[in-house]
Amino acid sequence: MNTNNKPLVSLENVDKIYKTKAGPLKALNGVSLTINEGEFVAVVGPSGSGKSTLINMITGIDRPTNGEVFVAGQRLTNMSENQVAKWRGRNVGVVFQFFQLLPTLTVIENVMMPMNYVGTYKGHRRERAMELLELVDLPDVANKYPSQISGGQQQRAAIARALANDPVLLIGDEPTGNLDTVSAGLMFGLFEDLVDQGKTIVMVTHDRDLAGQIPRVEEVRDGQLVSAADVDQRLVASAG
Ligand SMILES: Nc1ncnc2c1ncn2[C@@H]1O[C@H](COP(=O)(O)OP(=O)(O)OP(=O)(O)O)[C@@H](O)[C@H]1O
Ligand SMILES: [Mg+2]
Repeated sequence: MNTNNKPLVSLENVDKIYKTKAGPLKALNGVSLTINEGEFVAVVGPSGSGKSTLINMITGIDRPTNGEVFVAGQRLTNMSENQVAKWRGRNVGVVFQFFQLLPTLTVIENVMMPMNYVGTYKGHRRERAMELLELVDLPDVANKYPSQISGGQQQRAAIARALANDPVLLIGDEPTGNLDTVSAGLMFGLFEDLVDQGKTIVMVTHDRDLAGQIPRVEEVRDGQLVSAADVDQRLVASAG
């Protein structure tokens, strides 16, 4: 890992309170977290503990009720939704559990799509998309539609799309959650290569085996981060 102790993500005392019919629900409670450039971080924790909510703070998909979020030198908490969306398109690649490729576009068109919003790579978007499909080992299915390829292939296409604008930060919310073991392993290998090449990756996973291979594990419980020592203990216990 090429960590250089330069903070890329910084959450300061973040609360997220959802309004629900049953009253306010505190999904995040005073979360402070720093992730440095080049780190590979797993986010684990029980269902409903706040992992996706935490991830959505980092991508700017959602905003905190209290606290501050800084990513890549940008304070997200004082930007408009529009500004954040533009910023995200340039700086963050996101991969979800259900891939979320657009069904009416071919694989290569899906990969090219984020480039349209950013204005980079004009004139060679198709070549750039093809390079990314080669990186994820999918050049043969470039002109197929998502429904014509396997789940593992769709997820690799989604990773290629997430990398379209060469983001500093790659975020996955259970990216292997819907994959068989072989596809999950392939995808994980790809993430490891990307970290070796200097990307920063934050990935939610329910898979203890995968989490055990990730250098830093953050555990969320009831909207709070559990200290690293406790997580190490639990990983050791569950491995034995
Ligand atoms: N948009 C929303 N409106 C109201 N409550 C929400 C909303 N999103 C999440 N919650 C609630 O916030 C809490 C945290 O949810 P979150 O989705 O972050 O959990 P999670 O750890 O990602 O769970 P899972 O492992 O099942 O994906 C849960 O109690 C959930 O019901
Ligand atoms: Mg979730």
